[in-house]
Amino acid sequence: MKIYIVTGASSGIGEAIARKLILERHTVFCISRKRNESLIELASSIQTSLWYFETDLGKSGLIPGLMNEIFKLMDKDQISAISLINNAGIIEPVCPAGNYDNDELQQLIHVNLLAPMLLSNEFIKHTRELVIPRSIVNISSGAAASPYAGWGPYCSSKAGLEMFTRVLNLEQKQKPHPVRVLSIAPGIVDTPMQGRLRNTNDADFPMKPRFEQLYQHNLLSRPAEVAEKIINFIFCELPGDDEIIDLRKL
Ligand SMILES: NC(=O)c1ccc[n+]([C@@H]2O[C@H](COP(=O)([O-])OP(=O)(O)OC[C@H]3O[C@@H](n4cnc5c(N)ncnc54)[C@H](OP(=O)(O)O)[C@@H]3O)[C@@H](O)[C@H]2O)c1
Repeated sequence: MKIYIVTGASSGIGEAIARKLILERHTVFCISRKRNESLIELASSIQTSLWYFETDLGKSGLIPGLMNEIFKLMDKDQISAISLINNAGIIEPVCPAGNYDNDELQQLIHVNLLAPMLLSNEFIKHTRELVIPRSIVNISSGAAASPYAGWGPYCSSKAGLEMFTRVLNLEQKQKPHPVRVLSIAPGIVDTPMQGRLRNTNDADFPMKPRFEQLYQHNLLSRPAEVAEKIINFIFCELPGDDEIIDLRKL
């Protein structure tokens, strides 16, 4: 039995990843603030195991207890492979420094960076004794390496997540049964996050016209296509030696 823990399963890329995993009849643990009823119905209609946790990953104190609860539901003897997909993410605040709302800024760092670090820590702790393929996939962005005006918090959080990926790999490669840790930038994908970006103030995000044009010319990737590519990398052979993958560059 393959087990996947997917954060941000209520919409966009996370929903598409969870949907495909359910259809492949894997056991899936979903985490987001809102329940995704259509995933729950799908899993029940084909009788696959899906557990849904409505949790705000911005509340970092909840994360160790959440992971304890998730791992208590597993029969470790039955697991053939296990993966944590750190996909949940937010882009707000989108504006130049000097105008950030403190609470929004904290929430972004908590959801995009602190939560994946805490979840990874718990995942490694809970799976340490398992001699099976284990993997952590961090959903990154081109913004981890390229600065965009108005995206200071978002770019910084994704750059931090990529560095965390590199550090985890360095640590894990020394181990007899390492966890595979990947960072995958999905490209520009047609999700609610992109819709919110197109609604930001022009003055706050100078690159906005480019994102509008891509949308108008139907050049955004579809979440289902992106989900399929991400899932293919979780336990299979990688395109190169690097753990930092950009789907647009393949
Ligand atoms: N779309 C793109 O073009 C693009 C490009 C590069 C990278 N990405 C990355 O891809 C990932 C998914 O983005 P998306 O485009 O699919 O965005 P999305 O449609 O807005 O989905 C974001 C997901 O994150 C969850 N989330 C947000 N805040 C949360 C919180 N406090 N606690 C728990 N879950 C939370 C949301 O669920 P709830 O609201 O129900 O909590 C939702 O399921 C993100 O990491 C994003 O940075 C996207």
